Amino acid sequence: MPSSTYTARRGELETYFDRTAAEAWARLTSTAPVGRVRATVRAGRDSMRATLLSYLPDDLTGRRLLDAGCGTGALAVEAARRGAHVTAIDLSPTLVALAAERAAGNTGAGHVDFRTGDMQDPALGEFDHVVAMDSLIHYKAPDVMAVLAGLAARTRHSMLLTFAPRTPLLAAMHAIGQFFPRGDRSPAIEPVAERRLARLVTVGLPGWQPGRSRRIAAGFYISQALEVRRA
Ligand SMILES: C[S@@+](CC[C@H](N)C(=O)[O-])C[C@H]1O[C@@H](n2cnc3c(N)ncnc32)[C@H](O)[C@@H]1O
Repeated sequence: MPSSTYTARRGELETYFDRTAAEAWARLTSTAPVGRVRATVRAGRDSMRATLLSYLPDDLTGRRLLDAGCGTGALAVEAARRGAHVTAIDLSPTLVALAAERAAGNTGAGHVDFRTGDMQDPALGEFDHVVAMDSLIHYKAPDVMAVLAGLAARTRHSMLLTFAPRTPLLAAMHAIGQFFPRGDRSPAIEPVAERRLARLVTVGLPGWQPGRSRRIAAGFYISQALEVRRA
């Protein structure tokens, strides 16, 4: 059963991405002009998506891939264009509808099955690869590990995720941020140190090991890719 911290954060994320930020998110993930700060985020996210896709085989023909927390679906579409059969799931029905609209006629040799719901749902079936781009960064490390453990049992080759790297500077910024009113800002990000996450994977996911990793720091976007693969 999911923990209370997981369930509470999932509720906040659903409200935030489905209502508060749905419009801003649609714009950020489009080619429409955005301000300077958001342009750095868009560029950083493009690099992150390319990094995660580079950790997958070039030819994904016939592979089953889960885009866990797909948002507006850019990664799902690119994987499908490389031949994958993608299940793309997100908590936000608004973003899933937009993702399906953007994907229509654009998936090449592959296919994307868009769903609304929780990425942990066992009814989604088994996969060759799972990708969770910036969708687990808001959960506490033990909750991230519980999600990965559930998915690991149903994944054949690799799970790719991003995390917010905890560095002394970022920890200080995070601490200062706590003193400001939250308003309609996005739900908190839960930074985790790279070494701690690697240790949690090694100890907590028997038969799996941390693989490639790359930090992307582009202006206001700081996120780190981690490959978790069969040992
Ligand atoms: C920062 S957005 C990233 C979206 C997409 N992966 C991308 O990079 O463009 C995070 C997304 O994860 C989704 N999400 C968070 N927790 C989830 C969960 N437990 N199950 C499914 N989706 C989730 C949110 O609704 C949101 O759309």
